[in-house]
Amino acid sequence: MSAAALIIFTIVLFPCAAHAGGKALNVIYTGAIKGELEPCGCSPETQSGGLARLSGYISANKKALSPYVLVDAGNAFAEATAQGRLKSEAIIRSFALMGYDAAAVNVNRAAVDGGFISALASQYRVPVPPSNRAIKAIRNGLKINISSDEKLAKKGMINILLSGKQVSELKAVKGWDVIISSFGEELDEPVASGKALIVSGFPKGQKLGILSLKLDGKGKVVGSSHRWQALKQDVAEDPEVRSVLKDYDQKVAALLKEEELKPVKGGPYLGSESCVECHQSYVDSWKATKHSAAFATLERVGKSKDPECVKCHVVGFGEEGGFLSLKATPGLANVQCESCHGPGREHAADFSPMRPIGIEVCLKCHTHENSPLFDYQKYFEKIKH
Ligand code: HEC
Ligand code: HEC
Ligand code: HEC
Ligand code: HEC
Repeated sequence: MSAAALIIFTIVLFPCAAHAGGKALNVIYTGAIKGELEPCGCSPETQSGGLARLSGYISANKKALSPYVLVDAGNAFAEATAQGRLKSEAIIRSFALMGYDAAAVNVNRAAVDGGFISALASQYRVPVPPSNRAIKAIRNGLKINISSDEKLAKKGMINILLSGKQVSELKAVKGWDVIISSFGEELDEPVASGKALIVSGFPKGQKLGILSLKLDGKGKVVGSSHRWQALKQDVAEDPEVRSVLKDYDQKVAALLKEEELKPVKGGPYLGSESCVECHQSYVDSWKATKHSAAFATLERVGKSKDPECVKCHVVGFGEEGGFLSLKATPGLANVQCESCHGPGREHAADFSPMRPIGIEVCLKCHTHENSPLFDYQKYFEKIKH
């Protein structure tokens, strides 16, 4: 590698390295995580994100990223349901482990309880910029002012605003060097607006934003570069955050109250064992597909009591007479005949026709997010019977 190439290489890969006569600062940011603790894992090769990988990436690259500030611009949290509160708690605990310098409680959805989240943040000592104050940080001699209040920019400091507003609205906001939106817009590059750079946290935390600032001797921003860090399978997880997520899974499982579940006797769903007597060969061929092991998949990853996962990995979840829990309705675990053909009780009694099947039946579960490679012809070939 020539000297010139080496310099370019160094600047591109390590934009954080100090520059002659000036200084550098990385603003590492998230925003609009929206309660997404991690990708569901339904299609591992295409899914990016997750708190354990985010933390793993930062700790593995601490040296190369330093000096940096780590901030969340808001809209990180989940709705105020029992499960949503557990999610919000897991996010706050993960932020605490990662040492966030500031996490704004900007809330754009009415279903999220900001007061509950602020209380959690103080419990776990995650710095939340209060509405009328800024958080100060010093890195490598640089003074940094972080706030979610548009009026609190301070002369002589590097000003970072954490906002829930849309990028288009933020163009009118003055006095800040960096403005981070948590509205949930996808930007390829920062938007320049006066002296400010506007960036936007990648929706659902699928990528980590890294904005590298170059500063002159007086701490004035004189240049910048930006990149998105993908968080795919190749990023090693932080085991401490993983244990927070495991704890979350256990708390979610504990929300399932077996004693309150009432299986419907004589309900519309029978389970595939009832089809055997007349359709043995179909049952045999179904058993050879992944559908017949869909519940074991959830057990393997510790999610078999999480309704957000169970709903697509069983028969008739949320419907009258459908799956409730493995204990209450053992015959309805896994994606079975009736997940596609519809309830079979009447048919088994009088051979009345089952509901017609088309691609729309598959798409209820094979959504773009959970099954990005879904192609009806190709997938149908694999389950044909
Ligand atoms: C909207 C329906 C849906 C939801 C919700 C869902 N899944 Fe899935 N899951 C699928 C589908 C469809 C596949 C098969 C994807 C493919 O192969 O194209 C799948 C596959 C998987 C796989 C891969 C299985 C294998 O053979 O490797 C795992 C693991 C998984 N899901 C776990 C989960 C977890 C954990 C959750 C909850 C966080 C969840 N799923 C929620 C539909 C869903
Ligand atoms: C009730 C939800 C549900 C419905 C409806 C559904 N699937 Fe699936 N499908 C899943 C889940 C969950 C998996 C992953 C199972 C596992 O590996 O644990 C899966 C996996 C598959 C796979 C295996 C993918 C692989 O990697 O080999 C194929 C093929 C498939 N589905 C085809 C279909 C087709 C075609 C339809 C419609 C006719 C359909 N599915 C309807 C939930 C569903
Ligand atoms: C993933 C969805 C899915 C599952 C699970 C599934 N089927 Fe099917 N089944 C289909 C589709 C799609 C067809 C074709 C429908 C068509 O061509 O109109 C079909 C066709 C059939 C047919 C008619 C075959 C023919 O020659 O007309 C029977 C009978 C049948 N399935 C029974 C079963 C039984 C029994 C089970 C469970 C052991 C089962 N299926 C599981 C999707 C499914
Ligand atoms: C007592 C015997 C019997 C049982 C039990 C039974 N079937 Fe059938 N099934 C039949 C017969 C007979 C046909 C052919 C009917 C015809 O061609 O009109 C049929 C046809 C079908 C078809 C294709 C025609 C249609 O209506 O779509 C599907 C799909 C099907 N059965 C699914 C199931 C499923 C799923 C179960 C279990 C929940 C089941 N059957 C249980 C006897 C049975």
